[in-house]
Amino acid sequence: MAASALFFMMTMFVFCALQCSTVTGFDYQVGGAEGWVVPPANDSKVYNDWASENRFRPGDTLRFKYKKDSVMEVTEAEYKNCNSTRPSFFSNTGNTVYALDHSGPFYFISGVSGHCQKGQRMIVKVLSSEESEASGGSRGSSSSASSASCAAGFSKIGFLLYVLSYITSSLF
Ligand SMILES: *[C@@H]1O[C@H](CO)[C@@H](O)[C@H](O)[C@H]1NC(C)=O
Ligand SMILES: *[C@@H]1O[C@H](CO)[C@@H](O)[C@H](O)[C@H]1NC(C)=O
Repeated sequence: MAASALFFMMTMFVFCALQCSTVTGFDYQVGGAEGWVVPPANDSKVYNDWASENRFRPGDTLRFKYKKDSVMEVTEAEYKNCNSTRPSFFSNTGNTVYALDHSGPFYFISGVSGHCQKGQRMIVKVLSSEESEASGGSRGSSSSASSASCAAGFSKIGFLLYVLSYITSSLF
């Protein structure tokens, strides 16, 4: 009996490990450690520079960290004009996770008056799976957050396995 329980646990673990590496997208913290803030006057392109250093794929997530600010997803025209009247997405929680659910461009601006004009805006281009196959290469530089969430996933799995093994051992 112990052997089959062990086998079950191993199977679970391998299954979860595969999920972790293939299904889970990357979690990019926008702007790195600085987060989502009004950029300094001499560096107003900071977010587009940051975005162009990363290779986003469908299933990845963007994490915006900020204080007393907000995030909006808008159209290209609204991005250019810093028009925040009709965002298709709005959040001001301070820790916004936005799922990049399809390929193509996404346009983000700050919803706080004047911030977008000072450069707190960003275009994120999400590659289609063909494009990312073709260009190959490694993932972006900001991947540490996602390995952390992967690790968190593993510790949950560890707990689950502990509970399972407890149940199995009390049954037999
Ligand atoms: C902007 O100015 C600060 C302080 O003067 C400096 O440390 C920083 O390197 C400058 N950044 C750019 C992109 O020029
Ligand atoms: C802002 O966008 C809305 C909706 O897209 C539009 O109706 C409005 O005229 C725009 N305002 C400016 C100042 O461009």
